[in-house]
Amino acid sequence: EKGGHEYFMLKEIEEQPEALANTLRGHFEAGRIILDEQRISDQDLRDVDKVFVIACGSAYHSGLVAKYAIEHWTRLPVEVELASEFRYRDPVLDRDTLVVAVSQSGETADTLEAVRHAREQKARVLAVCNTNGAQIPRESDAVLYTHAGPEIGVASTKAFLAQIAANYLVGLALAQARGTKYPDEVAREFAELEAMPAAVQKVLSTVEQTREIARRISDSRAVLFLGRHVGFPVALEGALKLKELAYMHAEGFAAGELKHGPIALIEEGLPVVVVMPSPKGRAVLHSKLVSNISEIQARGARTIVIAEEGDETVRPFADELIEVPAVPTLLQPLVSTVPLQVLAAEIASSRGYDIDKPRNLAKSVTVE
Ligand code: M6R
Repeated sequence: EKGGHEYFMLKEIEEQPEALANTLRGHFEAGRIILDEQRISDQDLRDVDKVFVIACGSAYHSGLVAKYAIEHWTRLPVEVELASEFRYRDPVLDRDTLVVAVSQSGETADTLEAVRHAREQKARVLAVCNTNGAQIPRESDAVLYTHAGPEIGVASTKAFLAQIAANYLVGLALAQARGTKYPDEVAREFAELEAMPAAVQKVLSTVEQTREIARRISDSRAVLFLGRHVGFPVALEGALKLKELAYMHAEGFAAGELKHGPIALIEEGLPVVVVMPSPKGRAVLHSKLVSNISEIQARGARTIVIAEEGDETVRPFADELIEVPAVPTLLQPLVSTVPLQVLAAEIASSRGYDIDKPRNLAKSVTVE
C-alpha cells in the first residue's frame, strides 16, 4: 500500500506532481477558468469587494501563500485568518464578501463553524476541499475540489500543494469575472500552473540529498525557518512539519523581522533553513536575504539554503544547499515546500518516531 516506501508520507510527497496535475485538470475550458460547483452567480462574483481565506494548520498556510497571488491578480483585499479565531471576533462580512474555506478533510470543526458564521452574515462561501461530499463543501455556496487523492499521513503534504493550486484557480476565476486580467493573461497563468507538476518532479530528484542533510542536523534542539514574500508562509509550513513530526522546537519567521527580535536566538550550530527568492525574479528581496544569511552565519548558525538552480551569489553563505528549479515567483512555494517536507520526515525518522502517526495528533480535528 505504501508503494514500497517506509511510510505513507514519503509516498505522498512523491505523489505531489500527480496531485497538482489532477487538481488543475478540467478547470480551463474554452478559454475560461471553471470551478466545480458554482452556486454563486457571475454577477455576484463580479460584485465581490473583499476576500477572506479561513483555515487551520497547513491549509491556513496555503491561504497565506494565495493572498499574494489573489491580491496581485484581482486587486481585491484578501485577509487570511485562522478559522478558530475568525468567528470569535466580529469580522466585517456582507453579501459582497467572498469567504474561501480551505480544508483537506472538509470536516475540521473550527473551519466548519467559521463557514456557518460567515453564511449567517450573508457572505458567499467557497470551499476548497479534498474530500468529496464532506460537511464543509455541503454547507458552502461553491466548491473547488483538490484532487490530491486520500492523504493518510497526518502531516499534510500533497493536499497542501493541491490547496495552493486550487486557491490560485479561485484567484484566476475572480480576476476573470472582474476583468482585472485579460483572457490571454488568465490563459498564461493557467499554463504556468500546468508546468508545475514537472517542476515538482524535478525537486523529487533531490530527496536523497535532503535526507542526508536531515540526518546531519537530526540531533539539534531547535530549527529556525526564514523566508520573505511567498517564501514566508513556506517557512511557517516547514516549521509546522518539523514540530508535528520531529517534536522539535521550530519557528518560521519573515526574514525582514530578524533584526526586530529573532536574531537574538541565533547561536553556534543552530540550523537555520532559508527559503531564497529568485535572484532574477525578486532581485531586491534576494539581496536582502543574502545579507540576512551572512549575518546569521557570522553568528555561527548552520545555514541550510533552498535556492533557485544556478543562484551563485548565495552559495558562499550556504553550509548546505538544496537547489529547486526556476519557476515564476508566485509558484515558488510549490517547489520550495517539498525539501522542507522531506527534511522534517527524515529528521523524525532518524529520531525513531512514527512519521505517519505523530503523537497527540489526529488527521482531522473534528472538535473545536
Ligand atoms: O483537514 P484540514 O485541511 O481542515 O486540516 C487542517 C489542519 O488540521 C491540518 O492542515 C494540520 O495542520 C496538518 N496536520 C498539518 O500537517
